[in-house]
Amino acid sequence: MEQPYRKDLSHISLDEVFARQVRRAGLIEAWLDALQLQPRARVLDIGAGPGYVSLVLAERVGPDGLVYAVDRSADALAYLERLQRERGVPQIERVVADAKTLESGALRPDAALVTMVLHHTDDPLGILSSVARLLPAGALAVVAEFHPEGPCEVGPPREERLLPDQVRAWSEDAGFEVLTYRRQTPEHYMWVVQRRGAE
Ligand SMILES: C[S@@+](CC[C@H](N)C(=O)[O-])C[C@H]1O[C@@H](n2cnc3c(N)ncnc32)[C@H](O)[C@@H]1O
Repeated sequence: MEQPYRKDLSHISLDEVFARQVRRAGLIEAWLDALQLQPRARVLDIGAGPGYVSLVLAERVGPDGLVYAVDRSADALAYLERLQRERGVPQIERVVADAKTLESGALRPDAALVTMVLHHTDDPLGILSSVARLLPAGALAVVAEFHPEGPCEVGPPREERLLPDQVRAWSEDAGFEVLTYRRQTPEHYMWVVQRRGAE
């Protein structure tokens, strides 16, 4: 029987979280294209979970690039560590941390993904502000979420979903200029944002 939804995902296994990431794999190419990622880039993956998106990112940035997979769940990142070993993907650095506490200095990303994570947290603005602190001026980030007017056949229930305008406002308050909006599917949308301070 399906368990009731819990914001911290404790109602489902990591295998199931990973399977859900795989089912929405069709969204990822647009995220990576929007970041204009080149081989050797260093990318932050906020709320990486068991790591499907981090693995796709690692392929895009190549063996000389770096993916920082950040998650507050040590179990989720241990799941990713096992996959990295099995698949021979060393260029992912796993960081067990609450994303809103990340300090600049230790991580040096050129770009960031904040996808399907803000609705799991109590402080979306704190997370976006932390990401903004880590990125250099002009750096690109993608912030993607489930649309509250979607059919809700996948993902969180409607009452847990975040309005695009709210995500936009948090992004601006955090220090980003908002560049573009796209409704990727009836369920999903993405914002492309840029760290303010660019030339
Ligand atoms: C749905 S999962 C994976 C989402 C993934 N970014 C994607 O696009 O498929 C969301 C993850 O965000 C993590 N998470 C939620 N709040 C967090 C926070 N404040 N700091 C770090 N990780 C967080 C959860 O532990 C969970 O593994």
